[in-house]
Amino acid sequence: MRKNQELYAILEVSRVLTASFDLQDNLHDAMQILASRLEMQRGCVFLLDSASRALNIVAAHGLSREEIKRGRYLSGEGIVGQVLESRAPMFIPNIGAEPKFLNKTASRLDKSGISFLCIPIMLEDSALGVISADRIYSEAHGSVDDDLRVLQIVASFIAQFVKLYEHFKSKEDELGRLRQQLTERFSLPNIIGESREFQRVLKSIKKVAATDTTVLLLGESGTGKELIAQTLHYQSARAVNSFVAVNLAALPENLIEAELFGVERGAYTGATARRVGRFESAHKGTLFLDEIGELPLASQVKLLRVLQERSFERIGSSRSQSVDVRVVAATNRDLESEVRRGNFREDLYWRLNVVPIVLPPLRERVEDIPLIAAHYIQKFNRTYSQSVRLDDEALAALVQYRWPGNVRELANTIERFVIMADRDVIGLSDLPPNLTQDRLVCTPVSEPSNGDVDNLGQEVQNLEKKRIIKALQENNFVQNRASLALGITPRQLGYRIKKYQIDLRKI
Ligand SMILES: Nc1ncnc2c1ncn2[C@@H]1O[C@H](COP(=O)(O)OP(=O)(O)OP(=O)(O)O)[C@@H](O)[C@H]1O
Ligand SMILES: [Mg+2]
Repeated sequence: MRKNQELYAILEVSRVLTASFDLQDNLHDAMQILASRLEMQRGCVFLLDSASRALNIVAAHGLSREEIKRGRYLSGEGIVGQVLESRAPMFIPNIGAEPKFLNKTASRLDKSGISFLCIPIMLEDSALGVISADRIYSEAHGSVDDDLRVLQIVASFIAQFVKLYEHFKSKEDELGRLRQQLTERFSLPNIIGESREFQRVLKSIKKVAATDTTVLLLGESGTGKELIAQTLHYQSARAVNSFVAVNLAALPENLIEAELFGVERGAYTGATARRVGRFESAHKGTLFLDEIGELPLASQVKLLRVLQERSFERIGSSRSQSVDVRVVAATNRDLESEVRRGNFREDLYWRLNVVPIVLPPLRERVEDIPLIAAHYIQKFNRTYSQSVRLDDEALAALVQYRWPGNVRELANTIERFVIMADRDVIGLSDLPPNLTQDRLVCTPVSEPSNGDVDNLGQEVQNLEKKRIIKALQENNFVQNRASLALGITPRQLGYRIKKYQIDLRKI
């Protein structure tokens, strides 16, 4: 009979310890089980606090809150402290006759006739704490050896649980801290722009953040599409889950679908492990499909299906999986004209275009230039321990410049000033020549056109093409250096060289 009770006790303790990650509740339940199954009058779990090197009662059965508070031992102090130090179990047949027994909790009024069992909680070579139990033995109520054995098994369960719990806790704390940082980073005060055009964008973001709707971000390179996508995620209820970004221009065509939808093990030779796709990783979060205009036609059909049905299959699997993902897509292409040209499916375009948000280029919101400049000057001064500032003339030049690379180009330009500055005050003569030459006021683009948007777009593209050729020439066709000078990434430069069909051998 007693043996059965012991087995049940062990089974139930193992169950409660794996039921959840609540340290105190689980240990309390474990003590409760020992008390009822094995007739222990009192039971305590002491854990070592690594900072104070003291043993504190974390859970107990048969003790009041006050008594729990008093139960604090230093290593070596009393029986409990001694067990921790020696790492060996101890049995006191009669605590009334044992002077070392301190009874710090003062929970035992009459100590005579009570036996005390005390076992270290060990994991590998370190003692994490101690488990103790009071028992009154009589013929019919089991043997000391059996009790010690059961308690040792329970102690080893507790050790595993405490380690797992600590690991879980530290990861959870870390995750909380990181999430807090991200939420702050992508909070609206860190997104700069007070122009009417930009405020309109922020207002739309606030509105769509409260919904799960698909969002299409449109705008030239460097206008902040990715930043806005992240802000949207961290302002939404999905912020506690993942923001997953996929750059469709950076992926080789034949890998796009594997990346988006994942691969089942054995789907093709070499697919030895299951690979989770980005749709799956973004479950309950946000999936950012950057450069959506680069998605090959063949994959467009598959994406359309996911957007319509909210389910997909991994490559090599016939099992449909449903996902709850908010999709935010972005492109600097004119998708409507891509549709007209047959490069982009019209049905997909309409699926994505539920809420389009257009990010205005910097030259159309010049009043934001001084604010963004000030933000980045402060940021890079802090990064590089500098105290650089711009004089009025230099600032005026920044406002008049066309900024084809938009905010990214402005931020990179400021970073360069701050790093290269010989003096604290930057004047007109310190600015690179292109900044003072390519002035907005000197170009005809800002003059009223005949209202034809395509014409304006064409002009901007011509200008961009010219600037790219110039930067390539000035940098001996080293694309990394040219992209740096333009304030865009080498990948973006490569993409534009292709887009404008710039023949490097000819220029
Ligand atoms: N309103 C803003 N306030 C502060 N920083 C901004 C703002 N808009 C953009 N930036 C910064 O400018 C840089 C470029 O932004 P982002 O990468 O979001 O642009 P993008 O539109 O995705 O460009 P691309 O089309 O080239 O990928 C980033 O460093 C971003 O933090
Ligand atoms: Mg981007």
